[in-house]
Amino acid sequence: MVEAYRDPRRSVEERVEDLLKRMTLEEKIGQMCQYSAHAGLTDRIKDLVRRGLAGSLLNVVGVENVNEIQRIAVQETRLGIPLLLGLDVIHGYKTIFPIPLALASSWDPEVVEEAARIAAREAAAEGIRWTFAPMLDIARDPRWGRIAEGFGEDPYLAMVMAWAAVKGFQGPELSPDPERLAACAKHYVAYGACEGGRDYNTVDISERTLREVYMAPFKAAVAAGVATVMSAFNDLNGVPASANEFTLRRVLKGEWGFRGFVVSDWNAIGELVVHGVAADGSEAAKLAVTAGVDMDMEGDVYRRHLADLVRRGVVPESLIDEAVRRILTVKFKLGLFENPYADPERARRVVKSGEHLEAALRVARKCIVLAKNDGVLPLPKTLRRVAVIGPLADDRDAVLGCWRALGDPRDAVSVLEGIRRKLPGAEVLHARGCDVRSEDRSGFAEAVEAARRAEATVLVVGESADMSGEAASRAHLGLPGVQEELVRAVWEAVGGRAPVVAVVMSGRPLTITWVAEHLPAVVIAWHLGVRAGDAIADVLFGDYNPGGKLPVTWPRAVGQVPIYYNHKRTGRPPGPDRFTSKYIDEDWRPLFPFGHGLSYTRFEYSDLRVEPSAVEPGGAVTISFCLANVGDREGDEVAQLYVRDVVASVTRPVKELKGFKRVTLRPGERRRVVFTLPTQLLAFYGRDMRPVIEAGVYEVMVGSSSEDIRLRGSFEVTRTAVLEEGGRVWFTEARVE
Ligand code: NOJ
Repeated sequence: MVEAYRDPRRSVEERVEDLLKRMTLEEKIGQMCQYSAHAGLTDRIKDLVRRGLAGSLLNVVGVENVNEIQRIAVQETRLGIPLLLGLDVIHGYKTIFPIPLALASSWDPEVVEEAARIAAREAAAEGIRWTFAPMLDIARDPRWGRIAEGFGEDPYLAMVMAWAAVKGFQGPELSPDPERLAACAKHYVAYGACEGGRDYNTVDISERTLREVYMAPFKAAVAAGVATVMSAFNDLNGVPASANEFTLRRVLKGEWGFRGFVVSDWNAIGELVVHGVAADGSEAAKLAVTAGVDMDMEGDVYRRHLADLVRRGVVPESLIDEAVRRILTVKFKLGLFENPYADPERARRVVKSGEHLEAALRVARKCIVLAKNDGVLPLPKTLRRVAVIGPLADDRDAVLGCWRALGDPRDAVSVLEGIRRKLPGAEVLHARGCDVRSEDRSGFAEAVEAARRAEATVLVVGESADMSGEAASRAHLGLPGVQEELVRAVWEAVGGRAPVVAVVMSGRPLTITWVAEHLPAVVIAWHLGVRAGDAIADVLFGDYNPGGKLPVTWPRAVGQVPIYYNHKRTGRPPGPDRFTSKYIDEDWRPLFPFGHGLSYTRFEYSDLRVEPSAVEPGGAVTISFCLANVGDREGDEVAQLYVRDVVASVTRPVKELKGFKRVTLRPGERRRVVFTLPTQLLAFYGRDMRPVIEAGVYEVMVGSSSEDIRLRGSFEVTRTAVLEEGGRVWFTEARVE
C-alpha cells in the first residue's frame, strides 16, 4: 500500500503529518538545511542529499544537473523527499528584464507581474521552483548598491509592486503549475536602512519607521501569499534580523499570520557569532531556530548543532516540527512529490522564446525615465550622421544589470546596435571616449572628433553592472572615473550647435548635477535588460513616448543623503531664513524628485473632486479629476495621489503616496481618473504604538510628481479609530472613466 504522504488525493495537511511521523530527528533537520551547488554537483553535495541531510539546494543549474540531483533525492533516500531547488531569479532567468528599480519606474504593476511571470516560466522549465525574489527593501540611500534590486524609496509603491511580483512568480496561489515558482520576500527586515549605505551594516531605527516604512512591503507580500521570507544579514536595533524573535515570530508569523517558511540569508545564522550575540555555532543555531528561522542557507549550523540541542532539551522538538511542517507544505503545494524533474522539451520551447524577447522590449520601454528635455528629443530619424559616445554605448554586459541569473551578454542589444538598427541609412559614429572607471583620457580626442562630425550626439554614461547590487556600496555618487570630464569635453566642443543627449545607465541614483544643468536632455535608462538598446533607440527617436517616473529621489550631492520625498516637516522647514533646515553650501532640494518623469506630450489636470468631504474611519474617499493630453502625440502619464495628515499626535510626513495610475491618452483625449482611497491607508502608529486613524483634516495633492502638484483639496476624518494589528493590507483602487 502506498504511504499516505505519497497520495496526491489527500490534503496537503494530511500528507505533511504522515510524512513528519515517519521522519527521524536527523531527517527533519535535513529538511531545514540548504546548501549551494555553485561549484557544481560535488561529491559533498551528492552525499548530503543522499543521506537526507539537505532539504534544499541553491545554484543548481541546467536541466541535467537538476534531474540528476532530484533523482538522488527521490530514489536514493529513505523517504524519497524531493529537493526544493532555489536560484536568484530576480529580473529574468535567461531573458533578462530591467533591474527591479527600473521595473518600479514603470509605475505599472502589470509590468512587474509580467516580468516575474516570464522569469518563472523559464526557470521552472529548467527545474528551478523557488526564487529569492522579490527584494522588498525600502532604500532611501543610493550609496547602498542593493537599491538596484528593490522598488525604491516609497512603501506604498513597493507594496503594490510586491503584490504584483508575488502573483507573477507564484500565480494566483502557490500550486503545482509547472510554470510557476515559490517566491521569497527578502531581506526581512530593514536591510535597506544600513548606516552610511554600507552593505551589511548596522540598522538602528524606531519601531514606528520600521513598521510604517520598512515592513510595509513585506506585509503586502505576505497578504499576497508569498511562500517564503528571507531573514536578513543586518542587526536591527541591537538584534540581528536572523535571530530576531520580535520581527520573525511576533510580527511575521504572529500578527501577520505568515504560513510559509523563513530561510536565512547566506550563512546569516553562522554570522550571529561574528555579530557577537552568540558564542558559537550551537548558540547561533538555538537563537535562530527560537526566533523562527526555519531553514539555514549554506551555514551548515543547523546540521551540526540542532540535533544535539534537541537531545539536550535546549530546543524543544516541537520547534523543529513546526519548521519542517512549513517547509514540507511548500514542497507539497508545488507538486514536487509528483513532479520533481525539469522538462527539457518545455525548456527548449519557452526559454528565450521570441515572445519573451518581445516582452522584454515592451517592458524596457516602459521603465525609461525622461528626466530632462529642452526640446531636443525626440531626435529626427532623418539624421544622416549620429555620434554614439561613451564607455557604455556598446556595452552588452552593463545592460543586464546586477542579477542576471543565467543571462548572456551575447543576447543583449547595446545602445549602439539599437541606434544602428533604428537608422539603417545613417552613418553612426562610435567612440568609447574612456572606460567606465579608469582615469585614462586618451580616448577623449576621438570622441570629441566624432561629436564634431555628427548632426547629433548621444552620450551613454554611468555604471557597469558590477557597480550596484550586493557588496557594491559607493561613497561617491558621481559618474565613475572620468566620464563627467568626457561629457564636458564633448559638450564644450559641440554643445549649442548640435543636440547632445545623455543616456544614463545605473543601478542607483547618481549625482549628475553638472550634466543635468548643462545638457539639454537626460534619459535615465537604469540597466534595462536584453533589449535595452532597442528600447532606448525607440525613445530617442520617438517611436516610443517615454512615461516612466522615478521611484527614488536623485540627489544633487552625496551630502544630502539620505534624501526622500516623504520626510518629516521639522520645526523649521527649509526657507529663506538662515536658521531653517537646509545646507549653507548646497540646495536642500533634490536634482530630480520622486515621481518625476517627462513625456513628449503634455498633460493637464483639472476639476478635482473629493467626496465625501467628511468620512468615518473604515469608510473610503473618492478623489477624481480630469486628465487631458493637450500635446500632439499619444503618451502615458502616471497620475499620482499624495496625502498629508495636517495635524496628528505624532509628526507625519509632508506627503505620502497613496495611489497612482499609469494612463495612456491619445492627443486631445481627456479622461476622468478616479481613486478610491480606503481610510485604513491613513493609519499610522500613534504614541502608544497602536495603528490609528486620527480625526482631522487631510490634505489631498494630485500631480505629475511629488513636487509637481497640480491639484489640491482636502477631506476630514470625523473621529479617531484604533485598528487591530493583523495581516490585512489596503490599496487605493484606481480606475479611468
Ligand atoms: C545573499 C544575498 O543577500 C541574497 O539576496 C541572495 O538571495 C542569497 N545570497 C543567495 O544567493
